Amino acid sequence: RIYPVILAGGAGTRLWPLSREALPKQLLPLCSKFSMLQETLLRLSDWPELMPPLITCGNEHRFLVAEQLRAIGVTPIGILLEPESKNTAPSIAAAAHFLLKEDKEALMLVLPADHMIADVESFHVAVWRAAQAAHGGALATFGIVPSEPETGYGYIRRGKVVEGIEGCYVVEKFVEKPDSSTAEIFIADPAYSWNSGMFLFFAARYLEELQIFRPAIAECCRNAFNDAHRDLDFCRLNEISFAACPPESTDYAVMEHTAHAVVVPAEIGWSDVGSWSALSQILKDDVNDNVIRGDVYTDAVKNSMIRAEGRFVAVVGVDDLIVVETKDAVLVVHKDQVQRVKKIVEYLRKNS
Ligand code: GDD
Ligand code: MG
Repeated sequence: RIYPVILAGGAGTRLWPLSREALPKQLLPLCSKFSMLQETLLRLSDWPELMPPLITCGNEHRFLVAEQLRAIGVTPIGILLEPESKNTAPSIAAAAHFLLKEDKEALMLVLPADHMIADVESFHVAVWRAAQAAHGGALATFGIVPSEPETGYGYIRRGKVVEGIEGCYVVEKFVEKPDSSTAEIFIADPAYSWNSGMFLFFAARYLEELQIFRPAIAECCRNAFNDAHRDLDFCRLNEISFAACPPESTDYAVMEHTAHAVVVPAEIGWSDVGSWSALSQILKDDVNDNVIRGDVYTDAVKNSMIRAEGRFVAVVGVDDLIVVETKDAVLVVHKDQVQRVKKIVEYLRKNS
């Protein structure tokens, strides 16, 4: 039985000033009238083999998350709350404990709450393949054809085919966030994929691997779950045990080390909507390749995204620009420089 586990605890700082601590990217309606979290759940709604989802998020977002689920008629198996952000390895470990308590045979389909997948049917096929591999004890990843030497992703080199499973390969090498010269080498080799950040494995298998490579994380998460505070709607991890947990992403903690990873290359129209330029690429809709939202005037503007939340915004005679107006902040950034937006958030944290 496959349980979707939705990771909804990220900060989304590269989409400032729309994405804020109080309302991060995954809870915003960026690509449609639904939030990214809602889109992630709606994408799964026609899959009869799936069990109800488990959502993991920060304690401070619990009511928003519960409300967004209710609004689309999704009843989760649980909403698991993290008293503080410890990245994804602890989050997935706590989710694994939660599911094991319900179902010893739980398979977990780990999905970031803030990705776009255009081709749901192909995604479905990929999940099916990954599930077969997971049944053999593998930790399955989904590989994306890389288009540029992006350093913010994991890179997976595939080896031989997993016997009996079409389109599924043994992982020869997993490198999380390589430097740019290494990334250049990787994308020149067709055996490499980007790691999509989605995973499928038995909850019990993940915990076994975590125990081997990161026993401290495994122990803190076991304690945080055993002493969790549960009520009708939420399961809140124990604050003291979770505070002791070393923060780390599952890519570094487990995926780079395990000998049991497999990869299912998947052409699914994937984007992690990781920046303003990625978002504008997805939404591009008019003849001049612009994306216009809100009360906006443009003249001689090309390949730009102009977004006005409240005030009237006029833009004239520029190309390749992102302009985002919100109640208390305005962002103007060139499309080639959008990765620097997260530095604004660092600056604001330090200076306010
Ligand atoms: N619940 C919870 N708690 N969720 C979290 C936490 C946390 O502490 N931290 C991050 N998340 C969520 C984010 O919201 C996101 O949906 C997902 O987990 C992945 O975290 P990111 O911080 O976005 O990771 P990344 O983008 O640096 O790298 C991952 O994704 C890439 C693809 O987008 C890795 O898996 C890379 O290997 C991969 O290429
Ligand atoms: Mg990400």
